[in-house]
Amino acid sequence: MTSRTLRPAPLRIVGFASGRGSNFGALIAARHDGRLPVELCALLSDRSDAAALGVAQAAGIEAIAMSPRDYADRPAFDRAIFERAAQFRPDLIVLAGYMRIIDPGVVAAWSGRMINIHPSLLPKYRGLHTHRRALEAGDAVHGASVHYVTAELDGGPTIAQAEIPLLAGDTPESVAERLLAQEHRLLVASVALIATGHVALDDCGVLFDSAPLAAPLKLRADGSLA
Ligand code: GRF
Repeated sequence: MTSRTLRPAPLRIVGFASGRGSNFGALIAARHDGRLPVELCALLSDRSDAAALGVAQAAGIEAIAMSPRDYADRPAFDRAIFERAAQFRPDLIVLAGYMRIIDPGVVAAWSGRMINIHPSLLPKYRGLHTHRRALEAGDAVHGASVHYVTAELDGGPTIAQAEIPLLAGDTPESVAERLLAQEHRLLVASVALIATGHVALDDCGVLFDSAPLAAPLKLRADGSLA
């Protein structure tokens, strides 16, 4: 008699993006290299001109644009786009540069199954213009966060963060460019921990290996989180 080990099914992911799609592209690259045990099922966008759609298509991933203008109001659009996402039976939704605030009722339905990448060290600088705000505040260190999505904008439990120093002469543009490379590594590493069952959300907050996470994990130089 032969014995075989049943491998768990890979985590099914649907991405949401409004723009360039480089973070979703980082997931594609990591999946392709065998660094990320996930299935990237689809990329949904609220903008038909989002470059992210082409990023997904080039990798053979279904790319779908839906326009908020076709719906009566925000809740109606959000219900529709998340119903479309649900058709792919995702275990996890990854907001990777998705620039819309999502209806709280829709967010609640995906509690613990939706993450976002935000370009600041949360809880600092929720919302927009994070690089400019960090420079104006004179911060020495800035960064990005991956967090579970709750109804509170950029306010859900943080899983992990990547830090960069702010340098003399930095502009919002130079900071954005330098941080983006770290965002890609942070997002891949965070999704990998969820995909391998090391990270999850429960009523107490983020769990890391079944224990409550006291502080966000930090991205290390080797690309791992600790
Ligand atoms: C990233 O800076 C991300 O943190 C923010 O939007 C940007 C998206 O970039 N939420 P891209 O579309 O993934 O290239």
